[in-house]
Amino acid sequence: MRAQTQATTAHASIEILCTDVAMTRALGKQLGARLARGDVIALQGDLGAGKTNFTQGLAQGLDIHDDVASPTFILANEYRDGRLPLYHIDAYRLAETAHADDFGLDDYLNGDGVTVLEWAERVRAALPRDVLWIAFEYRGENERALTFTAHGARSRALLDALQNAVGA
Ligand SMILES: Nc1ncnc2c1ncn2[C@@H]1O[C@H](COP(=O)(O)OP(=O)(O)O)[C@@H](O)[C@H]1O
Ligand SMILES: [Mg+2]
Repeated sequence: MRAQTQATTAHASIEILCTDVAMTRALGKQLGARLARGDVIALQGDLGAGKTNFTQGLAQGLDIHDDVASPTFILANEYRDGRLPLYHIDAYRLAETAHADDFGLDDYLNGDGVTVLEWAERVRAALPRDVLWIAFEYRGENERALTFTAHGARSRALLDALQNAVGA
């Protein structure tokens, strides 16, 4: 695992190169195991960049055993059989079909669980500030670069914990 750390007063970020899909899912699981009520994880990256696979690993880290599917045509899926509820939202169509307000995005963000958004940049203005952003970038057939960026105390704590866990 290769990682680079950059810290500024405004935010901190690390880049991790995932050399296969199993590694992306394992990283998601590591994060999921550390999440707490109210955490928001914002995923961005093109179709096929690995956002759903990462979320499936994250669900495992929350001890969720239900199959986590892509929410693309449903906008949001809720999983309640784990340590905490997981709200898995796809903002791709959300941005096309409804305003975040109408959709009730706030109810998820203020709910009892963890919210993970794919295509989160489309609803950036509706998100709280202290969110862990993860940008997925295609680097090759089996390689994806994941850049984790913290924007506040809680997301920074998550980023630091993840960094320790993977020895980055
Ligand atoms: N290192 C990797 N991390 C994540 N996905 C990978 C990786 N290498 C190959 N893939 C493949 O890329 C695709 C990612 O799909 P998916 O997770 O649904 O992406 P997204 O939700 O961003 O559209 C899957 O077919 C997966 O097997
Ligand atoms: Mg997806």
